[in-house]
Amino acid sequence: MGPGPADVHPRVLAALARPTIGHLDPAFVAMMDELKTLLRGAFRTDNALTMPVSAPGSAGMEICFVNLVEPGDTVVVCINGVFGTRMKENVERAGATAVVVEGTWGRAVDPEQVERTLAAHPEARLLAFVHAETSTGACSDAQALAEIARRHDCLTICDAVTSLGGSPLEVDAWGLDAVYSGSQKCLSCTPGLAPVTFSERALDKVRARTTKVNSWFLDLNLIMGYWSGEQKRSYHHTAPVNALYALHESLVMLAEEGIERAWARHAHHHQALRAGLEALGLELIVPEAERLPQLNAVAVPAGIDEAEVRARLLARYNLELGAGLGSLAGKVWRIGLMGHSSRPENILLCLGALGTELGALGHQTDTGAALAAARAVLGTD
Ligand SMILES: Cc1ncc(COP(=O)(O)O)c(C=O)c1O
Repeated sequence: MGPGPADVHPRVLAALARPTIGHLDPAFVAMMDELKTLLRGAFRTDNALTMPVSAPGSAGMEICFVNLVEPGDTVVVCINGVFGTRMKENVERAGATAVVVEGTWGRAVDPEQVERTLAAHPEARLLAFVHAETSTGACSDAQALAEIARRHDCLTICDAVTSLGGSPLEVDAWGLDAVYSGSQKCLSCTPGLAPVTFSERALDKVRARTTKVNSWFLDLNLIMGYWSGEQKRSYHHTAPVNALYALHESLVMLAEEGIERAWARHAHHHQALRAGLEALGLELIVPEAERLPQLNAVAVPAGIDEAEVRARLLARYNLELGAGLGSLAGKVWRIGLMGHSSRPENILLCLGALGTELGALGHQTDTGAALAAARAVLGTD
């Protein structure tokens, strides 16, 4: 129950163990076509260029920046946690200028601040932001940010690593342009793949580049030759065949559940966890309206060594919680309820273990009340 990787379902692990076939084998190519269709369903898009990059979420981030940013460009980057700072780094490494919208850690990006920054920088052509900040548990209003970007003639780069499959994300309806994610969070696949999707507007910008993309592996013009359905597939790199079987299976499972039901499951389980945490006297640091259901950042009570608690949970209950990052290091636990980890038995295990171990460390809590509060939401007894 950390910030990812989430638990991987046995069906997905079984898919990983299937025999490896050639990555240009017709059966594999047919599976890739299905995979793209399934990914479009998860992203809620008709974008033709929707595919998994053969590398982790960070490569999803890089593929967006190296292709859409050219030297000399100005990019407005929203920073309200760790992953926004990486976006700034990507912009600068692409030889462009990053104009930062400095937000508060633990809060959503402020749309008005973005509006003012874009108005002050009419030269900017891109707005980059993190939809679901895994470092804090804050969810930004991607729809509002995309709408502001469009009014200022900017494309959007949106980090959906933690949101995809766990909370509402509507790539087409919200008009997002370049969106990347990771396989290991709410899709509950093994780590190491980065689903991405690009709008036609984004691809037009890539086609209009006057400079070569500064990465051979991540150059979309070359990758499209392998993933695109229109052309004959050509060798680009050896696809991670078994990992792609696993992603395919996890997306089939998501389609079987239904994406809206998956969002509702995450929201429901978050409410149960929240009720239990509150009964333990613990507080979530993100204001209610800005909370992610799949990542719960909990303030560590005064006098408690947060690392000691995590170590006890791991050793005694085989339960992983995440530590705080950056300015939240030592101050919060990050409790993930992602994908296959988002289950009632995990919530009850976590509340019971936290209550017991906090009590053992001298912090008085009522574990029974916490379990009862969570069960009341879950509808179990
Ligand atoms: C919001 C966000 N962006 C990017 C990444 C990077 O993904 P990966 O660790 O798979 O490279 C993560 C990973 O936790 C993340 O949470």
